[in-house]
Amino acid sequence: MGYVGLVAGTCYAHVGHEVKCLDSEQSKIKDLNNGIIPIYETGLKELVLNAVSERKLSFAHNNIAISSDTDLFVIAVGTPSGANGSAYMGFVHSVVSDVIKRVSAFPSNKSYYILVKSTVPIGTAKYIRDRIADNSLSNKLHVISNPEFLREGRAVKDFLEPDRVVIGTDNKAANDMAYRLYSPIFKDSSECENKIFYTSNVTAELIKYFTNGYLSYRISFINQAADLCENVDASLSDLMCGLGMDSRIGSSYLSPGPGFGGSCFPKDTRELMYSSSANSSPMTLLQHAVNYNEDRKLKIAHSILRGVQQMAGIKKEEYGNKKVNILLLGIAFKEETDDIRESVSLSIIDRLLSVCGDSVSITAHDPKACENLKSYIDANSRDQSWLSILIEKDMEKSIQNSDYDIVIVATRWSNFIGNSFLEKSIKDKKSVFVYDLHNIMRFPEDIIFDSYKRQLFSLGKNLLKIWGNK
Ligand code: UDX
Repeated sequence: MGYVGLVAGTCYAHVGHEVKCLDSEQSKIKDLNNGIIPIYETGLKELVLNAVSERKLSFAHNNIAISSDTDLFVIAVGTPSGANGSAYMGFVHSVVSDVIKRVSAFPSNKSYYILVKSTVPIGTAKYIRDRIADNSLSNKLHVISNPEFLREGRAVKDFLEPDRVVIGTDNKAANDMAYRLYSPIFKDSSECENKIFYTSNVTAELIKYFTNGYLSYRISFINQAADLCENVDASLSDLMCGLGMDSRIGSSYLSPGPGFGGSCFPKDTRELMYSSSANSSPMTLLQHAVNYNEDRKLKIAHSILRGVQQMAGIKKEEYGNKKVNILLLGIAFKEETDDIRESVSLSIIDRLLSVCGDSVSITAHDPKACENLKSYIDANSRDQSWLSILIEKDMEKSIQNSDYDIVIVATRWSNFIGNSFLEKSIKDKKSVFVYDLHNIMRFPEDIIFDSYKRQLFSLGKNLLKIWGNK
């Protein structure tokens, strides 16, 4: 019951299907049955509570008996990166074995379906079909590949208003089952025709990886353009407009930043590079985009480190002490989510603490991700320096209590932009460095950054300029 399974199960129930969500964690099941949602997703809690009250949705442990009235088994378990970048398939294989065992005991007068919603490597549907054949169930149990395209923070909307539903199967009955599953989402049969896209299993698997691969590449592309803007004093925002006005390029998904993170792009690009090489078609362009992305995160951290060194000098000169107080606004990998996996903010904190140690103090704020950062620090307690981080859910308290010298705006939360409390605090500071990692801050004209002691470092202007053309 993670970001995909819980959203999918809830939305299936919301459109009228009867859904039983299984999980291995008893505590998560107990919470869900009590209306406590383990993830932050806009609009999800209301849908869960409604579907549960309408008895369309329930939660149980994955060891319970399942009725043979069940038509469809949806696999939405994780496929985290393995050591060599390939996806770890242990959780998927375990669920497949469990479904095969259950269906073996079901009557043979109907068909059953495994619907693979997890992001799985090329060839997974074939692997599952082979296991089904090994158990002489090929006439009874069929495989539907149905990758998700859910963005965290807007997963419910992406599920209920999809650009397309990709269905990979090898028989018409499976297509019909997928149609029954998804047609309630759409207003009529013509919208179903337009939005439900049928193809082979392996092609459906590839569509998922190439979607994330292309989007990752697109982000690295615009980030590299932002770097050049810095070196030639071009306007990044005008560049984005000029590019986006071309209908072949479009303006969506063209916002530069500190590099992509999250639980999907890094994982899925690693898997696509691994499996494409294994199939004699290495994704060399994507490899460059991924390498650039990782290098970018380090460069941004080092630019901030340079700022810390400068600020330490200023503070020593002004007050005789060198401790630099840093306020980090945005801990999650992006706005509108509580997910901190592969967040740029974590790599920035790591660099600052490992290089500066206790000569910096870090206050971290995020509207939704504070609890996950606390859990992350507890789980990684080997690194004692992280225990010094002050985690503050209230933005104004984080501004007041940090007594910051440097503020880093790391994600695009709307309440970071034009925040009068933050702006006033910046205005009142004698010395302050602001790092705007997405070029989103638009300060009023009476807030001046014109001296060695008061500097604004903005993406696309001067954030990475110190690297020049290296
Ligand atoms: C992504 C895909 O969009 C989704 O279809 C897939 O199912 C899961 O992976 P998600 O990881 O939730 O979704 O976030 P997304 O909004 O796509 O952003 C991914 C990363 O790219 C974030 O770090 C974000 O900050 C960055 N990004 C996104 C940019 O830097 N610029 C953009 O214009 C968009």
